[in-house]
Amino acid sequence: MRAIPDNYRPILTADQIENRIQEMAVEISRDLMGESPVFVGVLKGAFIFLADLVRAMSVPVEIDFAQISSYGDETQSSGRIKVMKDITTPIAGRHIVVVEDIIDTGRTLHHYLNELKQRGPASVRLAALINKPERQEYTPEVDYLGFTIPHGFLVGYGLDHAGMWRDLPGVYEVINA
Ligand code: IMP
Ligand code: MG
Repeated sequence: MRAIPDNYRPILTADQIENRIQEMAVEISRDLMGESPVFVGVLKGAFIFLADLVRAMSVPVEIDFAQISSYGDETQSSGRIKVMKDITTPIAGRHIVVVEDIIDTGRTLHHYLNELKQRGPASVRLAALINKPERQEYTPEVDYLGFTIPHGFLVGYGLDHAGMWRDLPGVYEVINA
């Protein structure tokens, strides 16, 4: 186990996350019974959540990735949205589940969900591990939500601070980020 800085306050344990993801997977599997949806992981932050979520699903899934925008090394959103890497799967007629680590301002998903919807999918759903309502400008409808964390800058379980700490099994708040 790695040493965790003193200013990292535990928010979610690995067990809490695992239990919640199992529940979410049951719900998503029920909603998509008989289908084979495309799960679109939003890089980089969602890679661990996506990996755990798809392994808990009981319907067969296809997996693709998009990279939309990044905070860079800042803890504040830059406001600029850019599709750095798009999915390559044709999604017309398919059921889509976009998998995101955390929703902050909502900007990233607002734009990308609209873009996906223009490609004629059968449906587009959104699964997010964490919703952070404090600074929301756009409120994408989250069909499957893991946790609501009111505020703070979070790291671990895929979430980074300046590129680091994604590998922590739990989620921590960086105090004085
Ligand atoms: P939004 O467009 O402001 O909703 O930004 C969402 C993206 O910003 C997420 O996909 C994360 O990659 C990143 N982000 C937002 N809040 C945090 C945080 O507390 N810790 C780490 N990354 C975050
Ligand atoms: Mg992200």
